[in-house]
Amino acid sequence: MSVFASRNGSLHVEDVPLTDIADEYGTPTFVYSKRAIIEAYTEFHQAFERHPHLICYAVKANSNLAVLNILAGLGAGFDIVSGGELQRVLAAGGDPEKIVFSGVGKQHWELSLALKTGISCFNLESAEELHLLNQIAAQLGVTAAVSVRVNPNVDAQTHPYISTGLRENKFGVSDSQALQIYRQAHEMAHIAIKGIDFHIGSQITELSPFADALARILDLVDQLEKEDITLAHIDVGGGLGIRYQDEAPIDVQEYASCVLQTLGNRRQKLIFEPGRMLVGNAGLLLTQVLVTKHNGEKRFVVVDAAMNDLIRPALYQAWQKIVNVADGGNPSLCDVVGPVCETGDFLAKDRNLDASAGDLLAIHSSGAYGFVMSSNYNSRNRACEVMVAGDQSFCVRQRESFEDQVRLETILPNHLQ
Ligand code: LLP
Repeated sequence: MSVFASRNGSLHVEDVPLTDIADEYGTPTFVYSKRAIIEAYTEFHQAFERHPHLICYAVKANSNLAVLNILAGLGAGFDIVSGGELQRVLAAGGDPEKIVFSGVGKQHWELSLALKTGISCFNLESAEELHLLNQIAAQLGVTAAVSVRVNPNVDAQTHPYISTGLRENKFGVSDSQALQIYRQAHEMAHIAIKGIDFHIGSQITELSPFADALARILDLVDQLEKEDITLAHIDVGGGLGIRYQDEAPIDVQEYASCVLQTLGNRRQKLIFEPGRMLVGNAGLLLTQVLVTKHNGEKRFVVVDAAMNDLIRPALYQAWQKIVNVADGGNPSLCDVVGPVCETGDFLAKDRNLDASAGDLLAIHSSGAYGFVMSSNYNSRNRACEVMVAGDQSFCVRQRESFEDQVRLETILPNHLQ
């Protein structure tokens, strides 16, 4: 049964009515389902049971400590892109030996911290990064395990802002550059070559870009083998899409068959970096209608969540399903907008929705790239985050206060005023 279902006139998350959540924690609030996270992880894990693998959850999708802790408990590894994400994973009880470090611009302190922590692998994005890493590892007297992120020049057929595997994108290196980097790495005293990786984009709903990218990477794996550079793992990145509207997301079983078939009889361990597909549909944003108004023909439903809470509609023209938490009603065409002073501040356009002042709305599919991309724009306190487990709800991040917002700011001392 879906973790989001309507019962007794109110939408529930697992066994908790959203009306109770609004009463207890206020709005806007991100609400996550523990069960949905566990189910998504388990489905992925089981699909690859036949082959050695590690699922490194892409922390960027939702880095709440409670989310990371649930995944760590399931045995997940983590794909991080910053020192901050590394610290979060450790704080949430993640295993350092299951962490891979991605990202096109890792800083000195981040490399150093990750080396001291003993993470599993650095996904290198340039020769410069290799040299810096070798140097820091030498200073620390340790060895850094590395993989090279290859840009396979494959069109992921997704929104241009979240496509990463084309030559014109900043990510990864070409096959020939990768070979050079591997050859240099092979000679370095403080570097151990561990794998190869790629990530071609996000919200991908076609299998063929994955198969094409993997096939290209395998050519390189075979070529490296001829040079006596053997790899222990192949990291195929993340990017599996979810259903927001009427997309037909890739079936995880089919994805597994496709990856394993392309892999052939190679025995390298597979690493995955899924983010969205583990948490995207495990969360929603609960918001309350402040007012409804008409400008000419147009009806606006103004809610207490805004682009600072959920920027995906404004930034990627993303469509996320919005429903009234209460059943029934008389739907009519409207735009759902927030209180932020920008025309770009919309959560949905041209929706048929029943919504009056005081009603609660649920914006579905907000578990990934929701809270993590939120800001204090217009000096709005960032939303509260709640995790539901069965018939219980827990506040996993308090709503910010004004004091939280200004804690790091100060006004000029008297003599400079
Ligand atoms: N690995 C790497 C190296 C990545 O850059 C990403 C996402 C992932 C894994 C996870 O991808 P996923 O499985 O979640 O698709 N804010 C955008 C999405 C940006 C994705 C960035 N990289 C959105 O809201 O659609």
